[in-house]
Amino acid sequence: MQANMKITVRRGEIQKQRADALVVNLFAGSAPGGATAAVDRALGGQIRAAIDLGDFKGASGETLLLYSQGRIAAPRVLVVGLGAQPSFDAEAARRAAAQAAIALDKLGCRRAATILHGGGAGGLESAEAAQALAEASALALYRFEHYRSDPQTPLLRQLTLVEFDADKLAAVRRGVRSGLALASATAFARDLVNHPGNTVTPRYLAEQARRLAQQYSAIKVRILDEKAMAKLGMGAVLAVGQGSSNPPRFICMEYNARKREQPLVFVGKGITFDSGGLSLKSVSGIVSMKKDMAGAAAVFGAMQAVAELGLPRRVIGVVAAAENMPDGNAFRPGDALTTLSGKTIEILSTDAEGRLVLADALSYVERFKPSAVVDLATLTGACVTALGHHAAGLFANDDDLAERLLQAGAHTHERLWRLPLWPEYRQQIEGDIADVKNSGGPPGGASTAAALLAEFATGYPWAHLDIAGTASSEAHRHYVRKGGVGFGVRLLAQLARTW
Ligand code: BES
Ligand code: MN
Ligand code: ZN
Repeated sequence: MQANMKITVRRGEIQKQRADALVVNLFAGSAPGGATAAVDRALGGQIRAAIDLGDFKGASGETLLLYSQGRIAAPRVLVVGLGAQPSFDAEAARRAAAQAAIALDKLGCRRAATILHGGGAGGLESAEAAQALAEASALALYRFEHYRSDPQTPLLRQLTLVEFDADKLAAVRRGVRSGLALASATAFARDLVNHPGNTVTPRYLAEQARRLAQQYSAIKVRILDEKAMAKLGMGAVLAVGQGSSNPPRFICMEYNARKREQPLVFVGKGITFDSGGLSLKSVSGIVSMKKDMAGAAAVFGAMQAVAELGLPRRVIGVVAAAENMPDGNAFRPGDALTTLSGKTIEILSTDAEGRLVLADALSYVERFKPSAVVDLATLTGACVTALGHHAAGLFANDDDLAERLLQAGAHTHERLWRLPLWPEYRQQIEGDIADVKNSGGPPGGASTAAALLAEFATGYPWAHLDIAGTASSEAHRHYVRKGGVGFGVRLLAQLARTW
């Protein structure tokens, strides 16, 4: 995939670079070292002077802009604060890079040269620091201008990453490639979430899968239409989709299909618009529901990422895509559905549709004999109430898988928080006329939804991420823009890389 930013890696000294601006950095409470000290000397001690006056402390989020006035080739120098050295990590590196990219873009700089943030004294490995820098610089300048008559593109398009130590160059280049691949995959997921429901239909999602297969020969695609789904007995996906004139699709993408190993399987909720169906949502509840396919978007992004990174793993991505609409042909509250597994579900609310399409998807993937299955879904408002926008809910029937996901999420700063799946939640959804009902009422709503999924996720280690609160952002912050976040893409890629 093409990235919005070009990053070249070069061996050299930062103060000698020709660019619209140079970027160096400072840890809070430390003296300028290495490349920052070299730039400071070239500027006649301006950085030191700002530190000594207390004007610049190197705190995280802080920047200092200096003008070189002919002392070096670049007219501007931006010093970014890295915060305290002991608490520095990959996320701090990403935030520093995002800060710099946004500031320089605002100034109108087109080309900048930068050093790594925290590659030496910061304690990050060179590849990791380079990945963080590339990932966050590209993501910070992500824009979604598709529906504007006068689209604005960022000005900053070209970064030169300058590394003094020749021994580190190969690792830095590798890190930049990974970072750009992950940024591009995340941008793909953001686009899918940001495009509205009149563009993103189940058919549109199926086309995206075909496009991935065209682009990456290691990805094979299989799409089931309504007829194929009916033949298999996917009564839940079909019921959710039957009120819409945009018919449902069941999408399977397989990467490295010929590898003889048990695959890692990702499953995404792909409700391209959730009106609630006959249990219609309120005006304020319905307005953001184009994002109800963010789980699917994460799976698409993750498939692109694993293919672009060329991971030596077998990975399968499955998306259950449907539009949930009220209609004369829509499914009803009170209906009893027969799912692919043969288990039956009684409908209390047609607005609890995500767990229905996932029920069929989780049964379907058992045929792959997965080493693990991770599903992602904007599943419940209750999870947003519990965790806000700062973490996704994690549910799992396997502690090792839960632990790996927690670690991957901590690393990529797509934070997860484990929530319970106790038998009492399963009792809450015991059916009156069918095996289970699709709502357990308000108490513990995230856990009762997960308990329904657990009924169908049998025969493999499984985890469920409720991303209802993290799929989109209300504001720009660091390398996340307002709108679709692409939550889960980097996390799933990290899980696959370390699997
Ligand atoms: N897509 C919604 C959940 C949601 C809510 C996602 C807010 C993002 C933000 C889901 O399909 C839904 O409607 N869930 C209901 C379930 C209830 C009817 C049992 C909910 O959470 O209210
Ligand atoms: Mn719903
Ligand atoms: Zn929904």
